[in-house]
Amino acid sequence: MNPVVRAVDVGRGNTKFIVGIKEDGTPQCDMFPSQAAPSESLRDQDAWGAKRKTTTVPIEGLFYEVGPDVHLAADVFSANMLQNDHYCLTPEYMALLLGAVHYMQLEHIDLLVVGLPVATFKQRRWVAALEKKVQGEHQLGNGKRVTIARVKAVAQPTGALMYYGLAYNRVAELRKERSLIVDPGRRTFDWIVSHGMQQVEKRSHSVNRGMFDVLQSIADGISRTTASQYRDYDVIDRALREGKKPVIFQSDYDIAPHLAMALKIPEQAVAEMTRYVGDAADLKNIILVGGAAFFYRKALKAAFPRHMITELKDPIFANVKGFQYAGTAFSKTHQVGVGPELENPEVPHVLPRSAL
Ligand SMILES: Nc1ncnc2c1ncn2[C@@H]1O[C@H](COP(=O)(O)OP(=O)(O)OP(=O)(O)O)[C@@H](O)[C@H]1O
Ligand SMILES: [Mg+2]
Repeated sequence: MNPVVRAVDVGRGNTKFIVGIKEDGTPQCDMFPSQAAPSESLRDQDAWGAKRKTTTVPIEGLFYEVGPDVHLAADVFSANMLQNDHYCLTPEYMALLLGAVHYMQLEHIDLLVVGLPVATFKQRRWVAALEKKVQGEHQLGNGKRVTIARVKAVAQPTGALMYYGLAYNRVAELRKERSLIVDPGRRTFDWIVSHGMQQVEKRSHSVNRGMFDVLQSIADGISRTTASQYRDYDVIDRALREGKKPVIFQSDYDIAPHLAMALKIPEQAVAEMTRYVGDAADLKNIILVGGAAFFYRKALKAAFPRHMITELKDPIFANVKGFQYAGTAFSKTHQVGVGPELENPEVPHVLPRSAL
């Protein structure tokens, strides 16, 4: 029987995961907002009205509600828990991870691949602590349990590199090339430079210049113009993605005058990245992924005018799909749990060769 492999990418904006494998063998992705609403007791299940799409995960004596409809439960402060660099060790992170596992509807997982921001991934003790914490048996909502036999944490953008190799059928070439993978998300702007499948650590990093800062900049502009305290970030986010005017105080609001200022965020993020990456003359591929790719495209093109920038389809799911493919390939060629590349502490940044 094939080992059961699944992947989760707990971002600071959205938790992306592989909910199952389609008949054609491709992974089926899903996501929910990365917000967890804690409470002391289990909520009475929806006596009135439609059932809300959430699940409740018990962790360290509290109950955390997570899922697509969490906005109906969450208080505004809970999202802030995911901001520190070791967020992967908070109960909120665990609740989101186990919430994703809940939606997979499995009792046993042989290998779970999880992603971390590049800066967090550099802190080896946090990576080891996370893997240890996630491995084992866990209680999910509704009295269900899951056993996770093996956990592998990887830097988030490495998933996209793996996915790119497969999607473009360039696996063999990629092994010899240098690539830059740029992954703007809700809170962090991550990038890695890879040589073949290895991450070049001193040229890879992340900075806190994500879509959240963009939304905050526009919200400040709206607040000034309307003499209010405008804070509805999700409305601005949707308006930017869909190219529509948001409705504010019952009227269509033109956010265009605030865009010049908001575009400074991607410019600053890319400027910081170029301090690590240089002019990228040695880089064969520049790959743009992450949910915020659409807003960072312009700044990236401006910084690397002589390169072609490759944007992956469904950029928000690129990392988690890559994790899934890598985990599956790895589990096929190694008995999960005894992989030499993964066990050797001397080469922790080497992706499993079998991944591509
Ligand atoms: N279907 C969607 N639903 C919600 N947001 C989306 C969607 N498609 C694109 N986005 C964009 O994705 C952004 C978040 O990107 P992403 O999910 O990659 O961040 P993250 O990985 O959770 O955050 P981080 O990398 O900072 O930890 C949102 O701010 C939004 O602009
Ligand atoms: Mg991300």
